[in-house]
Amino acid sequence: MRIECDDRQVTVHAPAKLNLMLEVVARRNDGYHEIETVMAAIDVCDRLTLSTRDDERIEFSTRWLIPDQRLAQQLGDVPAGASNLVVRAIERLRERAGVRLGANVHLAKRIASAAGLGGASSDAAAALLAANRLWQLDWSRRQLADLAAELGSDVPFFLGAPVAICRGRGELIEPLESLPALDVVVVRPPEGLSTPQVFKHCRPPKSPVPAQPLVNAWRAGDRATVGRLMTNRLQAPAEALSPWIGKLASAFDGQGCYGHQMSGSGSSYFGICRNALHARQVGRRLNAGGLGFVYVTRTIALWESKDEVRAA
Ligand code: C5P
Repeated sequence: MRIECDDRQVTVHAPAKLNLMLEVVARRNDGYHEIETVMAAIDVCDRLTLSTRDDERIEFSTRWLIPDQRLAQQLGDVPAGASNLVVRAIERLRERAGVRLGANVHLAKRIASAAGLGGASSDAAAALLAANRLWQLDWSRRQLADLAAELGSDVPFFLGAPVAICRGRGELIEPLESLPALDVVVVRPPEGLSTPQVFKHCRPPKSPVPAQPLVNAWRAGDRATVGRLMTNRLQAPAEALSPWIGKLASAFDGQGCYGHQMSGSGSSYFGICRNALHARQVGRRLNAGGLGFVYVTRTIALWESKDEVRAA
């Protein structure tokens, strides 16, 4: 994640993610599912700013960064106050670190909610990084990752490399460095989906699809094969729960993408485009189709500075 800081303020740019493949390997006894997924951060970021306070209060505010507020309403709800994962992350870190410090916290949102884009998880990871810096706690990446896993299965991913294979319930991370960027178009339909609901309707297959072949193709720069190997086991249950998934699949069918599918547990849907120009064209066409909010963007190949990864 990109971090900017001075003595009194820390700003973190918290990216969304896409799942290029997601396999549900097994149902577990603790209510979760064992998964194998390739996650890639994309260049659509929320902006989280923490600044110091003289008292011990955590003052939280949030707003959409989308200029058209009517469109922003289509992006879902962002919990206000103590129920936001950002506040829970900061409070838990403060409690564990045993410090008595406060912060002003402002979250400027671009990432849609209930979308399978990891927005809340990324914001929570950003909150851990920001509070660790602001309060000069000096927690290691390992310590932060353990706390991140308590907050949500996807949160640890956002503390590390921009592309990774994630296993377990999503919290066991194998970082993948320096993969070529992919141009993508993401559409968040007007309705979101609930992660627990989608998982509940999913049946693990007898022969799970492995992640490695897609990763190998990506490493070789073979975008066509990446597109062909894309898969998401949660898509069929999501399609049964929301008519938008099928509509988006049909809309992407004629766009000439290397591959397209739902991200995470939905409801966002994305396609891998041939290049940036193709992505802009696909984005314009889909925008005209009234299918939801369209992001034209790309995967993040590398954080801009090694320091930022170390800081995580
Ligand atoms: O970890 P997180 O809080 O994001 O998970 C939300 C819910 O999604 C879980 O309570 C569970 O119902 C479902 N889930 C799952 N298997 C996973 C991740 C999430 O069943 N690997």
